[in-house]
Amino acid sequence: QPQAAPVLVAIDGPAGSGKSSVSRAAAERLGFGILDTGAAYRALAWTVRETGRDPGDEAAVLELLGGWGFSITLRGPQTVEVVLPEGGSPVDVTEAIRAPEISALVSRVSGHPRVRERLNEMFRRAVAGSGLPGVVIEGRDITTVVAPDAPVRLLLTAVPEVRARRRAGELPGLSPERVLADLVARDEKDARVIDFFTPAPGVTLIDTSELDFEQSVRAVIDAVRANAQGF
Ligand code: DC
Repeated sequence: QPQAAPVLVAIDGPAGSGKSSVSRAAAERLGFGILDTGAAYRALAWTVRETGRDPGDEAAVLELLGGWGFSITLRGPQTVEVVLPEGGSPVDVTEAIRAPEISALVSRVSGHPRVRERLNEMFRRAVAGSGLPGVVIEGRDITTVVAPDAPVRLLLTAVPEVRARRRAGELPGLSPERVLADLVARDEKDARVIDFFTPAPGVTLIDTSELDFEQSVRAVIDAVRANAQGF
């Protein structure tokens, strides 16, 4: 008996919109899994760096992907592991992929269209084979490219100052000005690949600028209940 396909909740948005933390909390309360696609792009950027590849060389990144192993937990605390192309045991990169050097590098790797196609296939397979009742997939192009037919499609946003303040709270070593500058620079680079500030047709916009964490989680859960049967 084949398992029913999980209900998909597609969530896009920029850094600091609450996308990661809010999506995770909403998924937990719904009993759904969560797939953080940004973590996959980060893990790939980490591997590119670790193996000394040129991040700007699409063919080199594609070649690397051929022998790349990647795994991410869909439930519970996030663990991200990578197997290097030369093989060996999995490397836990959960912490390493959050380093500012990786944040700065990832747009170069994620800008290659064929690299994106390969990761998108990987995401769709991971979700379909998850065996979970539902999966929240979060990223930048989930509502538009990865899962445009998802019954629930949301775009989380917040004004840059609010996003920078939230990020500064997560990165206590950096000044708020530096965080805002980094964030705006990264938005600009990422937005060259994908417009994740404008909701595509049929996508519900949730502006969290004036919402606290709990209100943001409720807004996501309400949207899921309004658009998916039985939850
Ligand atoms: O959400 P995040 O900050 O962890 O994302 C890391 C990077 O990956 C960010 O620079 C944008 C990119 N990304 C992407 O291009 N497409 C996605 N679906 C998710 C992330």
